[in-house]
Amino acid sequence: MPATTATPALLASQHRGASITERVEHEPEAFRILTGDRPTGPLHIGHYFGTLQNRVRLQDAGAELLVLIADYQAITDRYSSADLPRDVLGLVADYLAVGIDPDRATIFAHSQVEELNQLLLPFLSLVSVAEIGRNPTVKDEVATTGSAAVTGLMFTYPVHQAADILFCHANLVPVGKDQLPHLELARTIARRFNDRYSPAAPYFPEPEALLSAAPLLLGLDGTKMGKSRNNSVPLRASADQTARLVARAKTDSDRVISYEPERRPEVSSLLLMAALCTDQSPQSVADRIGDGGAAALKAEVTHAINQRFAAVRARRAELSADPGYLRLILAEGTERARAIAGETLRSVRRLMYNSY
Ligand code: TRP
Repeated sequence: MPATTATPALLASQHRGASITERVEHEPEAFRILTGDRPTGPLHIGHYFGTLQNRVRLQDAGAELLVLIADYQAITDRYSSADLPRDVLGLVADYLAVGIDPDRATIFAHSQVEELNQLLLPFLSLVSVAEIGRNPTVKDEVATTGSAAVTGLMFTYPVHQAADILFCHANLVPVGKDQLPHLELARTIARRFNDRYSPAAPYFPEPEALLSAAPLLLGLDGTKMGKSRNNSVPLRASADQTARLVARAKTDSDRVISYEPERRPEVSSLLLMAALCTDQSPQSVADRIGDGGAAALKAEVTHAINQRFAAVRARRAELSADPGYLRLILAEGTERARAIAGETLRSVRRLMYNSY
């Protein structure tokens, strides 16, 4: 989602981010991590290097991981939920294929967890309309669409996202910069709830952001990479599809390939893609290609992606041939999430209305 970022919030969370990375490494069990994705299409290699890889790393280090599929959030700017069953199961297949382990991690869709959704009511009482209106994503939406067309769900979704995070007492939320204002709101809501209803012993932790350290990949057309922009390589793409997608990528006419992100953003992003896939530096990929031009660069990128994701893709194909299994994983995740959310809702009600 597009959003302009409040600089002080960004700085504060980068500062917190540094020490958190160390803390997660030293005591992973101290962290309950919640991440979320909107089911708006298949995940692509930008997601892999930007966040999926990191989630798996944190899970494998021993942190508790919850992965939320935001299927209510998906209808804030879509008119229909018709594609959601396909897109939700597709996400589950992507997660499992990259190594999120359903025995350790909890994968669920938030529409299925009633107790989570009910937290929206008390949380709405803790924020003002003006405050929500200042949220950059909401503000952008109102500016582009006009407030008459913005739905109540769109307007209140940052508050709903606070419920996504707080229902399970997550203390760490890996996000991109665009999500920081939402995280700040979740922190505000946690603080206000604690002040108002649980002053002696804070009930909700204030969740911390974990910003991705991965460098940003551009889309193949040289613009921002996006799920619905059709400008990336989906994780599940075949080797041939990958070759065709990369063949279309924007480059420039300089035959000597060099890594210069400022001067040659498209070529440099392709180099970065190949470098991430092969665990090398983009400079060394460039040196190897030398004066081979765009054709050699594209051949290199295609090969690197196909090699790196061959096993993930094979697993992804197996998984998507078995939707019953994917539904089972989701049902188990839902059950775990509901147990957690039910306990939270009971405590919230007790704290707010302890007399009845
Ligand atoms: N808003 C996030 C996005 O657009 C998805 C999301 C929903 C999320 N709920 C969340 C992210 C909770 C982190 C925590 O990508």
